[in-house]
Amino acid sequence: MATRDPSGEGILSTTFDTAPNTAQIAVISDAARAAASVGLTFDRLTIEGGKPLEGTVDVRGAKNLVTKAMVASLLSEDVSVLRDVPDLSDVRVVRGLLEIHGVIVEEGAQPGELRLDTRNVRRAHVREIDAHAGSSRIPILFCGPLLHQLGEAFIPDLGGCRIGDRPIDFHLDALRKFGAIVEKLPAGIRLSAPNGLHGAHIHLPYPSVGATEQVLLTATRAEGTTELRNAAIEPEIMDLIAILQKMGAIISVEPNRVILIEGVKELRGYTHRAIFDRNEAASWASAALATRGNVFVKGAVQEHMMTFLNVFRKVGGEFDVLEDGIRFWHPGGALKPVVIETDVHPGFMTDWQQPLIVALTQADGVSTVHETVYENRFGFTDALLKMGADIRVHPRGFAAPNRRVPRRELEQAAVITGPTPLHGADIVVPDLRGGFSHLIAALTAEGQSTVRNVGIISRGYENFGDKLKALGARFSVEG
Ligand code: EPZ
Repeated sequence: MATRDPSGEGILSTTFDTAPNTAQIAVISDAARAAASVGLTFDRLTIEGGKPLEGTVDVRGAKNLVTKAMVASLLSEDVSVLRDVPDLSDVRVVRGLLEIHGVIVEEGAQPGELRLDTRNVRRAHVREIDAHAGSSRIPILFCGPLLHQLGEAFIPDLGGCRIGDRPIDFHLDALRKFGAIVEKLPAGIRLSAPNGLHGAHIHLPYPSVGATEQVLLTATRAEGTTELRNAAIEPEIMDLIAILQKMGAIISVEPNRVILIEGVKELRGYTHRAIFDRNEAASWASAALATRGNVFVKGAVQEHMMTFLNVFRKVGGEFDVLEDGIRFWHPGGALKPVVIETDVHPGFMTDWQQPLIVALTQADGVSTVHETVYENRFGFTDALLKMGADIRVHPRGFAAPNRRVPRRELEQAAVITGPTPLHGADIVVPDLRGGFSHLIAALTAEGQSTVRNVGIISRGYENFGDKLKALGARFSVEG
């Protein structure tokens, strides 16, 4: 049974074997907030599995670029136009945060076009920032642009998917190097830059995506040159650099993860079509494989998915790269086990492992997935166990031959023995990518499953209900 939140925001609690703990309540209210923001009227899906997914899905701009591109607009006092913006709750969060800072955000002429007018940026009230940020980690990236525009910034306590501790020490250390003063207050962190921001030499302890973006967004208008070492070089970061260059920035990407940024005094607005969402594309590809289906992912681009495509092929999936997308299918017969480890680009993304693991439960043999990016990203496998999968999570991981990256302290491993038929179950979505895996598992399983808390999936998958329908999935929705 689900009960309504008295605030009217949505579902506050749902059935657990025991009373939900604080962390579960936080996840449930995140899901309700996310769902409400994109007008999702249901909280749970009842899925009749065992039917291959077949058809076409469109993927639009990457959540992990679009949200940053929207923040980048703050670096100019001008109008920017961003195209292929998906309707996701994380995008709504950033839109809300921009609006409380005086940015006028309007839908453009084409579907998915946003017009961002940053000519009147102003301070926002701490309470407003807190209310709009919700559980998102995006506010941390507002620091550089707001310090340049207003001389100060405030970040509330940060959330995001509960997939580990997700600290912000790299961000704060970098901001301090630019000359920012960081004050930790009970409600969050206040930053100021009484003497302006200056170019810096920054060596990241790990090629963090967010910290690299932080440096880019801060250095472009800092006085002097910034040298960033051990930078992340994900395609979404390259797209952000392309946007910043359109705005007037001078940024060069050197070999060996070095990025040089020559600060400029002013930037102008941009017009840009966002890079496609390779996480969404890999998720639908994994769904096609697990359900023995055939899905054309319109908008997927080979160049940015090469590592995923290699693994997909090793597992036994087939794909065909076409001009406007990639078709993924299960060719029949048995799937093969694989050993993979998640990594920064150009390695196998951490966001790809959860959907793929569902397909690995159907492979003939023992697969191992080493998670090296986050310390807590196998929580979603509990639901798969309930559905009949054979997965052992080794919380401290173990050594593997031919490591691409040196071992990290936080590493874990999942050993998946297949093939195991999955059966329907009542499962609760824990986080964004784990949630999509739950959908795939329910679609793969024989019989009926109830997947609760699906609102959280709207943080990163646009119109997933309609897309599932278009692929012939059998399900009903409940509020
Ligand atoms: C981005 O997170 C993505 N989020 C994640 O996608 C993605 O999984 C991740 O990059 C890796 O590709 C967005 O772009 C909004 P990191 P980010 O900084 O930037 C540690 C999804 O599902 N770290 O590269 O937060 C951190 O704890 C999401 O779409 C520090 O220790 O990731 C982690 O272990 C989930 N200190 C590692 O670095 C810091 O200050 C990588 O994090 C920052 C990070």
